[in-house]
Amino acid sequence: MAISFLQKHKVIERNVMLLMVFALLVVAVGGIVEIAPLFWIKETVPKVDGVRPYTPLELAGRNIYIREGCSLCHSQMIRPFRDEVERYGHYSLASESMYDHPFLWGSERTGPDLARVGGRYSDEWHRQHLTDPRSVVPESIMPGYAFLADRNLDLPHIDRDLTALRDVGVPYSDDDIKKAVTDVLTQGDFGDGDKAELAKRYPGAQSRDFDGNPGRLTEMDALIAYLQMLGTQVDFKKAAARETAK
Ligand code: HEC
Repeated sequence: MAISFLQKHKVIERNVMLLMVFALLVVAVGGIVEIAPLFWIKETVPKVDGVRPYTPLELAGRNIYIREGCSLCHSQMIRPFRDEVERYGHYSLASESMYDHPFLWGSERTGPDLARVGGRYSDEWHRQHLTDPRSVVPESIMPGYAFLADRNLDLPHIDRDLTALRDVGVPYSDDDIKKAVTDVLTQGDFGDGDKAELAKRYPGAQSRDFDGNPGRLTEMDALIAYLQMLGTQVDFKKAAARETAK
């Protein structure tokens, strides 16, 4: 039987047109399998209460996180396995990274997963840890990032970052983009911006001086603002209560 199959295959191999048609068919099937799910991505990733786009300050912090390569050592995706869920909290939902471009799920865990690190430590702890990791975790192999506290946050292009994200589907409004720079200052406790108005557009946004240096808006402010919001958007306790009430 193997021989007769090879005989038939010979026919294809010796006829260029036939070979091309079959090769195209095979490639098309592979292509459809890869591409088709993208057409239904909206249904694949259900919207979950609480998930919102990043505030401009959080986004600036996220950009620093990317620039410094934090994701080379830290993943941001809790897998649905018991050991992970017990250590890090509820497993990550697709919707929690729906506004991430690029996503930072990561594939390397030299350090712990950070998907739900928000609120786990104080700002002071983060400051200390980022400045000199071994001063709080003696066995740590994480490099220090003390210089972030000495670098002013670079602001002028932040509205362009928001515009770029809107182009790929993140629902920032014209108002959000226009107010981007003011929003950064307000959230960083700089100037006398309206924090309540900011929290209305970005529910749950925390506004304060994150780096313990009220006179200056630094990259440390932005990075800590980002870390402190990670994983805090979805209220799993409320969702669980709703499930049991059903
Ligand atoms: C060389 C690998 C490496 C890099 C790069 C790195 N980290 Fe870490 N990180 C670690 C290790 C290891 C730990 C665990 C020990 C500790 O707490 O310091 C850790 C711990 C942490 C923790 C505490 C997590 C927890 O749940 O206890 C935070 C927050 C953190 N890192 C943030 C960052 C940020 C932000 C950056 C980028 C500016 C970064 N890390 C870059 C290796 C790294």
